[in-house]
Amino acid sequence: MILMDNIVREGSRVLREVAKEVDMPLSEEDLALLQDMLDYLKNSQDPEIAEKYDLRPGSGLAAPQVGVSKRMFAIHTTDEKDQLYSYGFINPKIVSHSIEETSLENGEGCLSVDREVEGEVPRYARVKLQADTLEGERVTLRLRGYLAIVVQHEMDHLNGIMFYDRIEGYAGPHKKEVPRTAL
Ligand code: CO
Repeated sequence: MILMDNIVREGSRVLREVAKEVDMPLSEEDLALLQDMLDYLKNSQDPEIAEKYDLRPGSGLAAPQVGVSKRMFAIHTTDEKDQLYSYGFINPKIVSHSIEETSLENGEGCLSVDREVEGEVPRYARVKLQADTLEGERVTLRLRGYLAIVVQHEMDHLNGIMFYDRIEGYAGPHKKEVPRTAL
């Protein structure tokens, strides 16, 4: 079971690495890790379990955040129609995106960042994601709104980018310059 102690915090080098493609078919070890990552998100959103194990709630978790530099992330969250998106993604790619941008009103947070960071994080309003899943399927998902933002945040982790790198004028600790167009 993944606990907060297992989550790598900002300042760790693994969060700045470009994660490696995962060999397919998925090894038992990678499968177990991705399942554990998804379980963390589910547990963290269950008030009783979260309190018992002191878990910070999260919508997404990327493998580098548990110290593994591989291209995998999990999401567990609902869209505006209350439909649940619960996935473990392997070798995900954003194959296209809108020109239109969006951002979360109250900024973004991250399980690897133990502080509030204010500021607008510009994201594409819509993205098309292609990936293999925990269930062994190849999926293409068209995502918008909060889900599109979560997926872009997690994709950034696979590319060594932290959300505050994208805040204009942010000059706090651990900031790294990223090209405006990096996806
Ligand atoms: Co994060």
